Amino acid sequence: MSSSISVPGSALTPFALVKHLENKILIDGKLTAPKSQKTFPVHNPATMDVIGQAVEANHEDVNAAVENAQKAQKEWRHMDASKRGHLVSKCGDLLDEYADELARLMTLETGKALRTESQVEAKIFANTFRFYGGLGLELKGETIPFSDSMLTLTIREPLGVVGAIIAWNVPLLLMSLKVAPALVAGNTIVVKSAEEAPFAVLRAAEIMNTILPPGVLNMISGDGPTTGEALVRHPQISKVTFTGSVETGKTIYKNSSEKLIPVTLELGGKSPMIVCEDVDLKETVKGALASMRFTRQGQSCTAASRIFVHESIFDRFLEKMKEELNNLKIGDPMDLETDVGAIISPAQHGKVLDYIEIGKSAPGATAHECSTLPDDAKLSKGLFVRPVIFTGLPNSHQVCQEEIFGPVTALIPWKDFDDVIAQANDSGYGLAATLWTNNLNRALQGVHQLEAGFVQVNQNVVVQPGLSYGGVKSSGVGKEASLEAMLEHFTHKKTILFNMG
Ligand code: NAI
Ligand code: MG
Repeated sequence: MSSSISVPGSALTPFALVKHLENKILIDGKLTAPKSQKTFPVHNPATMDVIGQAVEANHEDVNAAVENAQKAQKEWRHMDASKRGHLVSKCGDLLDEYADELARLMTLETGKALRTESQVEAKIFANTFRFYGGLGLELKGETIPFSDSMLTLTIREPLGVVGAIIAWNVPLLLMSLKVAPALVAGNTIVVKSAEEAPFAVLRAAEIMNTILPPGVLNMISGDGPTTGEALVRHPQISKVTFTGSVETGKTIYKNSSEKLIPVTLELGGKSPMIVCEDVDLKETVKGALASMRFTRQGQSCTAASRIFVHESIFDRFLEKMKEELNNLKIGDPMDLETDVGAIISPAQHGKVLDYIEIGKSAPGATAHECSTLPDDAKLSKGLFVRPVIFTGLPNSHQVCQEEIFGPVTALIPWKDFDDVIAQANDSGYGLAATLWTNNLNRALQGVHQLEAGFVQVNQNVVVQPGLSYGGVKSSGVGKEASLEAMLEHFTHKKTILFNMG
């Protein structure tokens, strides 16, 4: 490590780090024992071994975290915005030094493959802090020509203490999308991690707390109904930001409405990918694998889980896609040769298998199951699933309408462009969409007509700092990842009039 900052527990293996972190929450700048006596086990999804115990924070713990954040807010909000940004950038640089350690820890608790997923995410994670760190001076207001004898202006102020509730699929990325803009804008924050993945984010918070003033960033763990609800309902929480399921998003929206506080919700998706007949087949099939996030076991809210392929290239597309999927190695997530890891939990694993059975039982449907399950004895209890491509399912089928959050996609043939756009839009969700064509007119027509918050032509990049990200319809409320997200969702504008007359 080149950094001169001393991080407790440096250079530990993921297992030793879990020992260092278990039974702890992070309040007032340090890892601390909770008031709650309750804990829950965290598993390695690749083996189903228990790796450690996490805290189920109770009301007292939530209160302590929020009170500390509230106390820290008094100074943090008055620090120069550029200085807050500088500290957040420094966090990004330090987290980058710890990227490999964080990636390994995240792989241990989530079962995501280290090379294809966790290492990539840990880098974007660090970069998100660097990106927002540079935006302190963008917290600008306006002057308004209201009257010659008055100076009339707006200034942006922080909202107060933010409550952030995150999911397990990309825990580090989700943490950064909430913490970085909240802090640069002058808020302090309490994050509740997901039950399945509490350790990598706790470690990241510990690392960041070697730089941030105590109380600015607090991290607790626990379940939704106990810890999550207590955080959302806490009277001192003045903003909630959430990523997870539509159902939980609605509950959080309702609970927040009782306090009339602003809420950002990043929810699910059933994102379409439309492939026209003029594409480069090989590149587009690669794009389909990336868009569907097969290397993340399909556990992505933007997963291209409905792939509409022009009928003239449908058979070739299917064959090529099967060939590419067969080349992916499913195995030990920690092994750098592995492309695809395990599903997060028995509940999610069961849900995915149920959907595969539902699809298989539809008349005329075929499930093309690809690649092979690992035969390593130590992975025999692991939650692995072979990637599946369904053909013969209409867009109206349950498998094409409900979010599966697993490595399951449906290939649907089309021949009329207006009709395929209508099918793509025939969904309760509207998070992301991709369109693959070399025809400029079609591309322009498509990007205007697709009902989604994030639309890409001939590519599919994951969330990137700087690009506003967020859905329409059931996919959510608000934007993340951009300057706009920080200004609109983590500040309010105060209007000020000076009478100089
Ligand atoms: P979930 O939405 O229930 O959990 C996400 C987070 O919300 C966790 O931290 C959980 O503890 C918390 N939570 C749950 N109930 C709460 C409440 N009443 N108040 C406050 N916080 C609460 O998602 P879950 O159960 O992990 O996954 C179920 C489905 O949700 C998945 O199959 C998938 O379809 C979808 N999902 C979507 C994600 C996305 O990226 N948009 C991420 C994770 C899941
Ligand atoms: Mg749930």
